[in-house]
Amino acid sequence: MSVRRLAEEQFQPVNFAFSEENAAWAEATIRKYPEGRQQSAVIPLLMRAQEQDGWVTRAAIEHIAAKLDMPYIRVMEVATFYTQFQLKPIGTRAHIQVCGTTPCMLRGSEDLIKVCQRKIHHDPLHRNESGTLSWEEVECQGACVNAPMVIIFKDAYEDLTPERLEEIIDQFEAGKGADIKTGPQIDRHESAPEGGAVTLLEDIKPVRTNLEPKAEPVEEAASVPPADAARPKDTAPETDPKLKTPVTAPKAAARNAKIAEKGEATTTTAKAAPKARGSKAEGAPAEPGVPSGETKPKRVRKPKTEGEVS
Ligand code: FES
Repeated sequence: MSVRRLAEEQFQPVNFAFSEENAAWAEATIRKYPEGRQQSAVIPLLMRAQEQDGWVTRAAIEHIAAKLDMPYIRVMEVATFYTQFQLKPIGTRAHIQVCGTTPCMLRGSEDLIKVCQRKIHHDPLHRNESGTLSWEEVECQGACVNAPMVIIFKDAYEDLTPERLEEIIDQFEAGKGADIKTGPQIDRHESAPEGGAVTLLEDIKPVRTNLEPKAEPVEEAASVPPADAARPKDTAPETDPKLKTPVTAPKAAARNAKIAEKGEATTTTAKAAPKARGSKAEGAPAEPGVPSGETKPKRVRKPKTEGEVS
């Protein structure tokens, strides 16, 4: 892993300014962040500065620090930490970043570095004679499963051999880098096995008898009496639920109704009787024990009250 420092003074331009288009883009990017959090735009702005000039200059770091109201050292920390930022002029056609972390090293990254040294320059971050190619060693790029690999600008080239890397370098040198297939350089898709799938080739219908969940017996919900919360409190005696009513004691109510009917009929007859008897038995002897002209009233049975019925 190489130490990441800014380029020597002779390479550093005096000034930096975003182009008109990039300046508008930078303003729009800064506005995406909440008030007081504009410094979060530091990585996008550094990347745009690199895309504009080919590498991140000291002047660009100072310009971005002033734009985001950040200490210069904070922007420099970000630029020197991420290997995606180039701090020196790099090859105009290809800058090859060889992953040298353990998985790639175990799979042959040291041989890839030897190819770069032979075809480009012995030292990293130095351009070839024509200025078109450069290389450096970087840490894990997240494609360990397809080790060894290199990154060229924004594309990854994986499952490399020294011979295949030589071909790739030659094509970039010839200006035909866009024709090269990115990703795995062997016969496999993404990180699938080389030559195709080796497992799960048959169309197996899974037996699921032991996997399907058993139906749980549905438990009956416990009976819950209705709540009395909304029922108005009534302590009047006539609302006592123990009182018998025609609804709760229909037979007794029917019997009482008959008795009442009979009683009414008897009373009516008794009222009408003196006149009838008087007119019919006019001059006839009076009933024994009854004064002449008077009729002994019949006794009327008093209807039972509901309490007596029970
Ligand atoms: S170790 Fe090389 S990509 Fe992860």
